[in-house]
Amino acid sequence: MNLILLGPPGAGKGTQAELLAAKHGLVQLSTGAMLRAAVKAGTEVGRQADAIMKKGGLVSDDIVVRIIKERIAEPDCAKGFILDGFPRTLPQAAALENMLKSSKLRVDAVVELKVDDEAMVARIAGRFSCAKCGAGYHDAFKPTKVAGVCDSCGSTEFSRRADDNAETVKARLLEYYKQTSPLVGYYYAKSALETVDGMGSIEGVSAAIEGAIEKLRG
Ligand code: AP5
Ligand code: MG
Repeated sequence: MNLILLGPPGAGKGTQAELLAAKHGLVQLSTGAMLRAAVKAGTEVGRQADAIMKKGGLVSDDIVVRIIKERIAEPDCAKGFILDGFPRTLPQAAALENMLKSSKLRVDAVVELKVDDEAMVARIAGRFSCAKCGAGYHDAFKPTKVAGVCDSCGSTEFSRRADDNAETVKARLLEYYKQTSPLVGYYYAKSALETVDGMGSIEGVSAAIEGAIEKLRG
């Protein structure tokens, strides 16, 4: 099963992708996480992406399409994957369709997470993740079970994202409305999309996503 999670910054794409991956044995493919890893590693792609991400803009279609194409071709993706943060523009969606078609693969379901703008800002302001394994948390909504210790790997090192500040969040939100929200219509017209209310609890949203996937897969 191959899935796409669509939604603005802070909607819960990463949180829900992590749950779906664990439940269904799928690979989580987050272009944001891949780009942050490239920035950290100081690669050519990372150097190009860094300034754009800090401003809340979108990295070029060429770069992200290449990253995803290479990643999807790796053997672990044969068991199915969840795209978290890709595609984000109509050209990226067209490129995805072409690359899947040539491998005789398809997208089984696209789920849009709908969240109020104010909630996104609160979610992003409190977000942190494990510096070792990348597990995601929130100061108020998803704290670690033991304060200062990662639930997943036991690490005591955590980090916050460079683009999680009020100014950049606003820019990221505008990019979403301008460039990514047209994908809602694109996938709806293909009868591949269900919209889920992303304002409930993490567990509630997760159950709604499972329902949406079941509905789309018939
Ligand atoms: P990316 O990393 O994808 O960031 P984003 O889209 O802005 O989304 P976020 O990761 O901020 O939010 P999320 O929806 O994953 O929410 P999360 O689950 O963490 O992209 C970063 C940048 O990379 C982009 O700005 C762009 O520059 C570049 N980029 C990436 N992909 C690209 C592409 N395809 N093309 C071009 N450029 C690209 O949740 C947020 C917080 O809320 C967490 O703390 C979580 O614990 C909490 N939370 C989650 N759900 C709930 C809930 N139901 N109730 C309460 N709290 C909750
Ligand atoms: Mg994310």
